Amino acid sequence: ATYIEPYRPQYHFSPAQNWMNDPTGLLYHNELYHLFFQYNPGGIVWGNMSWGHATSKDLSHWEEQPIALLARGFPDNITEMFFTGSAVADVKNTSGLGTDGKIPLVALYTSNYPVTQTLPSGKTVKANQQSQSIAYSLDDGLTWQTYDSANPVIHYPPTPYEDQYQNFRDPFVFWHEQTHKWVLVTALSEIHKLIIWTSDNLKEWSVVSEFGPFNAVGGVWECPNLFPLPLDGGQTDTKWIMVVGLNPGGPPETVGSGTQYFIGGFNGTTFIPDDDDVYPGNSTANWMDWGPDFYAAASYNGLPDAEHVSIGWMNNWQYGGIIPTYPWRSAMATPRHLSLRTIGGKVTLVQQPKENWASIETQKKYSRTWKSVAEGTEDLGSRGKTLDIELSFDDRQQASGVSEFGVIVQATADKKQQTRVGYDFQARKVFLDRTLSGDVSFDKTFASVYHAPLEPSADGVVRLRILVDWSSVEVFGGQGESTLTAQIFPSEKATYAKLFSSGGSTENVQLGISDLSSIWQ
Ligand code: FRU
Repeated sequence: ATYIEPYRPQYHFSPAQNWMNDPTGLLYHNELYHLFFQYNPGGIVWGNMSWGHATSKDLSHWEEQPIALLARGFPDNITEMFFTGSAVADVKNTSGLGTDGKIPLVALYTSNYPVTQTLPSGKTVKANQQSQSIAYSLDDGLTWQTYDSANPVIHYPPTPYEDQYQNFRDPFVFWHEQTHKWVLVTALSEIHKLIIWTSDNLKEWSVVSEFGPFNAVGGVWECPNLFPLPLDGGQTDTKWIMVVGLNPGGPPETVGSGTQYFIGGFNGTTFIPDDDDVYPGNSTANWMDWGPDFYAAASYNGLPDAEHVSIGWMNNWQYGGIIPTYPWRSAMATPRHLSLRTIGGKVTLVQQPKENWASIETQKKYSRTWKSVAEGTEDLGSRGKTLDIELSFDDRQQASGVSEFGVIVQATADKKQQTRVGYDFQARKVFLDRTLSGDVSFDKTFASVYHAPLEPSADGVVRLRILVDWSSVEVFGGQGESTLTAQIFPSEKATYAKLFSSGGSTENVQLGISDLSSIWQ
């Protein structure tokens, strides 16, 4: 059997071996979910960036495929690395890249050129230049050719930003039905700007607008994506979401990378964030996830708006290269279904884990209810290390001082190792505490507590959905308006769980724990 090494994720995607970062080129095509990813075929730290590839029929079970785009000149004379991008099915063959009636899949990616060179297209690039290029597949995504006769199709950033040519990356492309055009968003990372382009054929691009800087600008802007979501499930009202990665400069209490988003409108050329979504003086931001390990979130093309799915990289540039896993490094977070709901009068991004639960839930289910859990702890015994937990309980009115309720997971029998997930009734925040979560020694910022704002539901109930895998915890609070994702590296024996209630008793507690099976068996 494989995928049984210490810390190996059991129901999250990780490559069999070597380094992985951003999800890229996410495309649903012919009933298959394609997941490409930044990959080092030659090592367990970042380098030789190539596009690795995995496919899934259900977003739960993944099959690793041959490398889609191998760093040019690998292993010892790299002249082009394939950085993050996106992919579409060019159904109408607007690119003309389809032959013999085959639908071309077209990927836009960032060419990162380590050395000055003249390319087959005759274009010259400088050392460390980043430009945007095309690759295409005529066999439904299995093998890819770079479009060498014209690459890079976007050679330089637009005027007056040409001097940003070393920090110009991560093209996100999609079809805009209303204007019948391809739209592309690219990042000018150092100056916190996104450039929006349009095209009729995926090859020739015109600049139509720019966006930013707004809100969080503590580090470079990377990995933008832009997509529509129906509001409150309606057929008529649609809003657009712009997601931007930031490294460093993530959410409060985190160190390193994080992901922010804007809600607004898009007319085919310009994205305008809603007034109440831009904060004065870059004072705050909308965080897609309030934990330390959710970055470079990318969106699927090829799905209906109401079925939007996004996948994040479950790691952080602060310590990503030294997490204690072998022979792979990094996993993807659980895929998320994204929607928009009006909560407390505000249009809010709502995220729910998207897995084929029926296929990974075992018969092992543990459900209990308590009229009241007294102050202290309530032992739940040995519950395992791959869990889907649903926990709900009453809000405490007038809470003051330390006033918390939650669940401890992945604890050793002596409880010296443990990960705490709970709700702080006074601060009105859900929290995740990994200070005692096993190996926290490899980075001095790792042993920390993270908080996400969460109001109880209108009827005064706090709801938490907590996904535990061998080396991660993901928390979805409320309807999914607050999420917290963190890696943990506990002992293999850390299978125990318990409830904790501090500052008083907690009423109407409902707990359900499902044991999840491995997707790799
Ligand atoms: C984000 C990122 C991207 C870049 C890729 C390189 O994590 O830095 O901006 O394209 O990783 O691997």
